[in-house]
Amino acid sequence: MVISWLIINWNCMELKKNLRLMLKKIFIKTFGCQMNEYDSNRIFDTVKKIGFEKTDKYEDANCYLLNTCHIRDKAKEKVYHEIGRVKKIFRFKKKPIIIVAGCVAQAENQEMLKREPYIDIVIGPQSYHKINGTILNYLNDKKKEEETEFDTISKFNYLSKIKNKVSKVSSFLTIQEGCDKFCHFCVVPYTRGPEYSRPFKQIINEAKELIESGIREIILLGQNVNAYSYKEEGKEFRLSDLLLELENFSQLKRVRYTTSHPKDMTEDLINIYKSSNKLMPLVHLPVQSGSNKILKLMNRNHTIDDYLKIYDKLKSINPNIQFSSDFIIGYPGENDNDFKNTMELIKKINFTNSYSFIFSPRPGTVAADLDLVDENKSKQRLKIIQKELFENQIQKNKSLENKIVNVLVENRMKDGVKLFGRTEHMTSVIFDGDLENIGTVVQVEVTSSNQNSLFGELKKDYKQKVA
Ligand code: SAM
Ligand code: SF4
Ligand code: F3S
Repeated sequence: MVISWLIINWNCMELKKNLRLMLKKIFIKTFGCQMNEYDSNRIFDTVKKIGFEKTDKYEDANCYLLNTCHIRDKAKEKVYHEIGRVKKIFRFKKKPIIIVAGCVAQAENQEMLKREPYIDIVIGPQSYHKINGTILNYLNDKKKEEETEFDTISKFNYLSKIKNKVSKVSSFLTIQEGCDKFCHFCVVPYTRGPEYSRPFKQIINEAKELIESGIREIILLGQNVNAYSYKEEGKEFRLSDLLLELENFSQLKRVRYTTSHPKDMTEDLINIYKSSNKLMPLVHLPVQSGSNKILKLMNRNHTIDDYLKIYDKLKSINPNIQFSSDFIIGYPGENDNDFKNTMELIKKINFTNSYSFIFSPRPGTVAADLDLVDENKSKQRLKIIQKELFENQIQKNKSLENKIVNVLVENRMKDGVKLFGRTEHMTSVIFDGDLENIGTVVQVEVTSSNQNSLFGELKKDYKQKVA
C-alpha cells in the first residue's frame, strides 16, 4: 500500500518535472560565421529532445544561449556586455539558464564562470552533443557546468542521428571543422581544434534528409572546406567527390561551399566546374592581402601568383565565374607599397561581395604582440579598399539592369507582398511573384539596383539571354 502510494507520487513528480521541461523556451543569439549559424540550428534540434521550444522573443526565454565568435575585436568583452543586458531584462523575472557556447566559450572556458556568476553553463563547439546532459545536470543540481573538450567525432556521430528541422529553401551543411594552418593572425585553430572531416556517407545522408525536407540549395561549410579529406577502405574522398555525389539529387538546384583556402584549391576541385550543373559560379577564396611579403608574414603559405593561377584556370573553364574574398588591412608590417599591391589585385580580379577588416590582435596567436600599423593609417586604408569593393558591387549590379537573372526563390519579404531570392552569384533579388515560386528557380527581369540588391519583375515567358 505504502509502496504503491510512493510509486504513484513519484510518477506524478516525474510527470510534473517533465511538464515543466516541456514548457521551457530557448532563445539563441548567434554571432560570427556560418558555422555558428549551422551549430545554433543543430542545438535547437538537439534541445527539442528534452522539451525545449525555440522562441524568437528573448524576454520569454527560460534558457538564453549566446553562440559566440572570437575572431576579432573585444569578443570576450562583448559577451559580458550582452550578459549585463540580459541581467537587466530579467531583473524582476525568474532568471533564465544562461549558456555561453561557441568560440569565446572554448577560448575562455572556466574563466567565464569565475568572472560572471550569472553564467550557468559554458560549452565549446566540439561538445554540443553533450548539451542536453549538461542542461539536465544543471537543472538537477544547480551546479555550474563547463564542457570544452575537443571531441568532434562523437559530436557528429550524435548530431547525425538527430533529425534536421530546417524549413527553409537554403541550408548550411558542415562537412569539415577545425584548422591546421595556423595563420599568424587567427584564433580558429585554437577555438575549433585540429582539422576534422566528417564521414562521406554521413554527409550525403544529411544532404538527402535536407532535400527531402524541402531544401533546394546546400552550402557546404568548413573552416577550410576544400581541405575536406575522408579516407575509407583505401579511398580518399575529397570535396570534389562530395560535389559529384550531390549532382545526383534531382530536386537539389544549387550547391555552394565556403570557406576555401587557396592552398587546397586542387585540380580535381577546379575540374568539377567543367561538368557540374549545380555548383554556382561564385568562388569565395580569401586572399587576405595582395602583397607576397605580407602573405609570408601571415603564414598563408601561398603567393599572389598561386592565387592568380587559380583565377585564370577557373575563368578559362567558365568566364561567368566571379571571385569574392576576405582582406585584412593594417597587418603588422603592411606599408604603403603592400597596400598598393592589394588595391592592384582588387582591380585585376574585380572581386564581388567581399569582406575587409582591420587587423585585430588575438590573444594566443603569433601576431598578437607585433607592432601595430598606425590606427589612423589602417582606418584610411580600410576606407579606400571598401570604397573600391563597394563601387565594384554597385557597377556589377547596375550592369544587370534590363537583363534577366536566374533566381532561387527563398521566402516572402516581411512586407508580405514581395518575394526574396538570390542570383547564381548570391546577390539578393526582391521582386513581385507568386508564393508557389518559393523553392524554385525563376527568371527575373532586373529593373533597378543598389549596392546590395537587385529589384525586378518575374518573367513568365522570356526569350532574352540570361545574365
Ligand atoms: N579559413 C578562412 C581562410 O583561410 O581564408 C578564413 C576563416 S576566418 C573565420 C574569416 C576571416 O576573418 C578571415 O578570412 C580573415 O579575413 C578574418 N580574420 C581572421 N582573424 C582576424 C584578425 N585577427 N583580424 C582581422 N580579421 C581577421
Ligand atoms: Fe584561420 Fe583560415 Fe588561416 Fe585556418 S586557414 S588559421 S581558419 S584564416
Ligand atoms: Fe568566429 Fe569561431 Fe566562426 S571565431 S568566425 S565563430 S569559427
